[in-house]
Amino acid sequence: MTSKAMALLGWVDDRFPLTKLWKEHLSEYYAPKNFNFWYFFGSLALLVLVIQIVSGIFLTIHYKPDAELAFASVEYIMRDVPWGWFVRYMHSTGASAFFIVVYLHMYRGLIYGSYRKPRELIWIFGVFIYLALMAEAFFGYLLPWGQMSYWGAQVIVNLFAAIPFGIGEPLSEWIRGDYVISDATLNRFFAFHVIAVPLVLIMLVAAHIMALHEVGSNNPDGVEIKKNKGADGIPLDGIPFHPYYTVKDILGVVVFMIGFFAVMFFNPTMQVTDTLSLFIESPNFEPANPLKTPEHIAPVWYFTPFYAMLRAVPPMLGSQFPGVLVMGAAIVVLFFLPWLDKSPVKSFRYKGTYIRVALATFVISFILLGYFGVISATAERTMIAQCATVIYFGYFLYMPFYSRHEITATGWRAPLVALYSILTIGLIAYWWMNDEVSATLKLIVSVVTLVYTIYLLIIPAYVKADTVKQVPDRVTSK
Ligand code: HEM
Repeated sequence: MTSKAMALLGWVDDRFPLTKLWKEHLSEYYAPKNFNFWYFFGSLALLVLVIQIVSGIFLTIHYKPDAELAFASVEYIMRDVPWGWFVRYMHSTGASAFFIVVYLHMYRGLIYGSYRKPRELIWIFGVFIYLALMAEAFFGYLLPWGQMSYWGAQVIVNLFAAIPFGIGEPLSEWIRGDYVISDATLNRFFAFHVIAVPLVLIMLVAAHIMALHEVGSNNPDGVEIKKNKGADGIPLDGIPFHPYYTVKDILGVVVFMIGFFAVMFFNPTMQVTDTLSLFIESPNFEPANPLKTPEHIAPVWYFTPFYAMLRAVPPMLGSQFPGVLVMGAAIVVLFFLPWLDKSPVKSFRYKGTYIRVALATFVISFILLGYFGVISATAERTMIAQCATVIYFGYFLYMPFYSRHEITATGWRAPLVALYSILTIGLIAYWWMNDEVSATLKLIVSVVTLVYTIYLLIIPAYVKADTVKQVPDRVTSK
């Protein structure tokens, strides 16, 4: 650095902690040296956040949040605005990319136990980020004012109307600002999408990273590197984030951008069959028409696992509320994860067989639910989705049993095992009363559910059957 630049930096440092911040968060932030592939996704999520904000600003310059003009203004961006198509596809591809990256980032948290003490708050801020991201995507999807924008919003806002005790109807009218989705709804969704939710999102991401830098990163071994410090006070297994991980993350960014641009340039709607496009659904190329319902209304792929759960729960007493509750609970349960995992070790690498089976079945059920949420519902698919919903919740709710390594069905736990077992038997009995489905399918889902419950709830609750491996004192180089 030249002496003039040094003098300028000194001038700034006397007034603002620039060098201090740089050191604390980059050049002297010691991260474990064994980060692997799964640690790319935090920085990629930051990159996508920036992509969305910058492309969003350019879209806002030309977009009109008016029911008469919105659809045409998007067409204008695509056809007449110089590089408009580029900006729009960047934003629409970015929305799906955000969820891909965040799902992989959350999965990393699951396998390495990154939500465990002392990182509970990092995880909780993360779940709030995930909720904010869902809200952001939902509000944004109305803005092009296409058929799916309109009808998708109609279906989702109507879910609020299912809330009983006279709350639902007024609440859904309050959200819409009207009795149906209309210009008033478009205006407020624009305000939420462009300013309110992004502000919340940015503040949450800042809190997420501040919490991370307070306690330090976890790693694939789940070893706390701060417990092994050298004479200089630096963790023996730590390396400065900058330059080591800034350089590593640039590699991740380059590979990610190659994939991102490949989608943007060659298949921006992510068309997978003649009738199915995952990133921008085909009916959204038709302007919103309140008098014509599309043949098949489905949310965008990242919401479909939850949509499938909603459809899997049958209406009770003529109300869809139980389905809405289950869908909400599927997200709320994430907040409790740090307290559900009772394993003596953090990382998947040193855990036993139960967690592997639980995680594998959880991932399969989540993907299956995502698939069923995209395609139309039949009696058979609904039954499989019900089984997948049990497995989704089982991963979390049975965790206090299968993650422990002692006999646990004592005190308050014994009635819980009994309750889950009765509910499972009740569900199986309900399946056998369904005449629309073949006996073979009933047998398959019943056996899967029974074996799952016996293996992950009942056996671990009474038998010390699993073992954990010895966790090394220092991080490994695997
Ligand atoms: C806009 C979305 C998000 C951004 C920009 C973001 C950013 C980051 C960054 C930069 C890191 C450190 C690098 C890394 O460990 O990969 C991190 C760590 C972490 N994030 Fe996120 N994150 C986001 C969403 C989430 C969500 C939705 C969750 C979970 C529900 C989550 C949970 C975590 C956890 C537990 C860690 C600590 C990981 C460890 O130390 O092993 N994050 N995040």
